[in-house]
Amino acid sequence: MTLATCTAEGKPSARIVLLKELNKEGLVFFTNYQGHKAKDILSNPYAAAILFWADLERQVRVEGQVKKATAERSDSYFKSRPQLSKLGTWASPQSSVIPNRKYLEQLMTMFNEKFKDKETERPANWGGYIIKPTLVEFWQGRESRLHDRIQYRLGNSDGWIIERLAP
Ligand SMILES: Cc1cc2nc3c(=O)[nH]c(=O)nc-3n(C[C@H](O)[C@H](O)[C@H](O)COP(=O)(O)O)c2cc1C
Repeated sequence: MTLATCTAEGKPSARIVLLKELNKEGLVFFTNYQGHKAKDILSNPYAAAILFWADLERQVRVEGQVKKATAERSDSYFKSRPQLSKLGTWASPQSSVIPNRKYLEQLMTMFNEKFKDKETERPANWGGYIIKPTLVEFWQGRESRLHDRIQYRLGNSDGWIIERLAP
């Protein structure tokens, strides 16, 4: 999904992340807790996300508040990752400027050596975030540009308010 975050000053940025889980709490993705998006979320814990299926002419828009997943949730997902992905997590200071590719490869070799005889645990600076939606819009492309847009908006006490929007 495309994930948009914003600095406290209102400067937006967007990138793709993998939507790893959709559950009662919200949309779960995993990332580095020190990268650009993490800094945004720390000072402004709101995000918007987009899922788009070109062939089906479908879009889902989500907006909501973001919080960190529990350490247990992050640990269990980290454990399920392939070994090279685990090492890559250790080796990448996400969003930092680095001198060259060799630098990354050397870090990878170093962490491969470090975890040679023991389990590769989750680095403390990597884990999940959950977007708890307050707004979800389903967009379906239709003929003559008369597309369907159905919005679910979380009301104060009435639960979800469902409305149709003009395309
Ligand atoms: C298909 C695809 C999937 C990606 N999945 C993730 C992901 O799940 N988590 C992540 O941190 N970055 C993922 N990335 C990389 C991000 O787009 C981005 O480069 C990175 O998270 C750094 O973003 P930031 O500097 O805004 O924090 C993915 C990129 C692509 C193209």
